[in-house]
Amino acid sequence: MNENEIISRGVPSHIAIILDGNGRWAKKRLMPRTFGHRKGAFNIRDIAHYASQIGVKYMTVYCFSTENWKRPSDEVNYLMTKPVRYIERYKSSIINSTTKIKMVGRRDRLPRPLLETIEDLEKETANHTGLVLTLCVDYGSLDEVKNAVLEMHHDLNNGRLKESDVDEKTIYNYLYTRDLPPVDLLIRTSGEIRLSNYLLLQLAYAELYFTDVYWPDFNEEELLKAIENYQNRNRRFGGLKENK
Ligand code: IPE
Ligand code: IPE
Ligand code: MG
Repeated sequence: MNENEIISRGVPSHIAIILDGNGRWAKKRLMPRTFGHRKGAFNIRDIAHYASQIGVKYMTVYCFSTENWKRPSDEVNYLMTKPVRYIERYKSSIINSTTKIKMVGRRDRLPRPLLETIEDLEKETANHTGLVLTLCVDYGSLDEVKNAVLEMHHDLNNGRLKESDVDEKTIYNYLYTRDLPPVDLLIRTSGEIRLSNYLLLQLAYAELYFTDVYWPDFNEEELLKAIENYQNRNRRFGGLKENK
């Protein structure tokens, strides 16, 4: 199917991506892992731009997990400092676009310059009405649940929340991603078939798509392939599809 045919069949509203394989992509080219992270960062911009063009409403990308602090300090240091420069370089074009940038994850462990740069982008794009691009930084699903449980406990104690009012939606409302709808399509690049602590609740009924392509090589064509694959799924949400 060609691009227009795929788009006309309807694209998923919320796509989440585990962008993996930056390091292996660089290694294959006999380059340092950080070279892959650099290419990977630019690719977030390019794929978000294309996703927005074809009508995706939400794109949520895994940039740094709560477990990634275990990596060698020079790599962690690169990931915590370099994005500041990338963002500054593209800041004006982001501000002039319709994309709204959000960050989810722990904010207390990020270096100040990175946090301030991201928060500045969140502020500058808060009224944008196009694609919502959520960056998951120092994010882990288990940390998110821990945080939700503590906040709920606090609100139950201070009376802001009544036990009898707690339902599935209440729990969703305590997650970092409370403003995002559930994920429709999850893409993981690089051939790994696992979720690595990513959006475990938000993926409850998502369709999962795994590809061997490393993130820096994941381009428009690969995104269309994932969407076409998604369009051929039969989403039942526990029920039965009519006429099936
Ligand atoms: C994904 O690429 C980016 C981050 C986790 C920050 P990796 O750095 O995990 O690359 P591989 O998986 O080692 O190739
Ligand atoms: C998941 O990738 C985290 C991000 C993409 C930011 P990892 O490369 O850290 O995951 P594992 O270690 O292979 O599970
Ligand atoms: Mg990896």
